[in-house]
Amino acid sequence: MIDARPLTDRHQRRINYLRVSVTDRCNLRCRYCMPEEGVPSLGHGAILSYEEFLRVGRVAVALGIEKIRVTGGEPLVRKGIEDFLGRLARLGGLRDLALTTNGLLLAERVQALRDAGLRRVNVSLDTLRPDRFERITRRPGLDRVLAGIRAARDAGLRPVKVNVVAMRGVNHDEILDFAAFAREEGVQVRFIEFMPAGAAWEEARVVPAREILETLAAALGPLRTLPNGPAGGPSRVFELPGGGTVGVISPLSDHFCGTCNRLRLTADGRLRTCLFSRNEIDLRAVLRSGADDRELARVLREAVSAKPAGHGLSAAPDGPRDRPSMHRVGG
Ligand code: 5AD
Ligand code: SF4
Repeated sequence: MIDARPLTDRHQRRINYLRVSVTDRCNLRCRYCMPEEGVPSLGHGAILSYEEFLRVGRVAVALGIEKIRVTGGEPLVRKGIEDFLGRLARLGGLRDLALTTNGLLLAERVQALRDAGLRRVNVSLDTLRPDRFERITRRPGLDRVLAGIRAARDAGLRPVKVNVVAMRGVNHDEILDFAAFAREEGVQVRFIEFMPAGAAWEEARVVPAREILETLAAALGPLRTLPNGPAGGPSRVFELPGGGTVGVISPLSDHFCGTCNRLRLTADGRLRTCLFSRNEIDLRAVLRSGADDRELARVLREAVSAKPAGHGLSAAPDGPRDRPSMHRVGG
């Protein structure tokens, strides 16, 4: 038997949320995330098989993980993802299964995803203008993403959340357009502060959440605070005066590390307890060493216990923290 006490770290945080990046590949090349040429392909066998991910998922759920999000890279480019999601959805004890996608392939896949048991989806989209989309992602495809968002909504995936990384000089003049989009399309738009990850980050590009909320309130009137859903999480959610729901996620200005409940697993099987810590545990080696579930559970528990208190992004600028590659670690 494994030791099934709920995962808790040394800072009394209960860890119940696992994000799984199933591939580091992507069919877009967002400038702040991916190099133009894409990522060198990890050798065959470097990426965890679905069986291996499921095994980690099963043990993690036994240790109190209640929510799993599948991310990438772009998860819909990995073959067999529907079947994988279906098997995750059937893990007893899992209460919430979600997917983060760039939406390019969503319209054609949404029914299969829904049939597999997926109930909700987050779509990453930073602009509503076709030329700008191509500038940011180095690929055309805004129409397909919009079709994907609508298809997800029409297939009854609820809620459909649209994640917008707010970047000064790139898309910060679209805040009101996105608010109108949220209202007209009946989706929740969430503005995310641009984090020091990947290559193209500059502090001057960060648009603080407070500024986004002020822009919305100045144009539309006072925002009404809403509870942020049963899964909680770090977003603050508001209803707009004319209707529509928006949220802000402020990893930089808000210090939400104190309530961080998540763990990340990369496509090549590294476990990360903090997005910004260099500390990774090679779970793939454990999985392939013949370790039994008890041993796997012990490794997970130990990793969680050492989860850092916070990212310290606004403190010591040259600490041992990482500039993670989001396509590898999962956004
Ligand atoms: N800051 C905030 N969000 C980011 N993402 C990628 N890089 C960053 C960053 N530096 C987001 C993507 C997507 C998810 C995969 O992570 O836009 O929403
Ligand atoms: Fe792909 Fe997402 Fe990175 Fe853009 S941000 S290149 S969509 S993984």
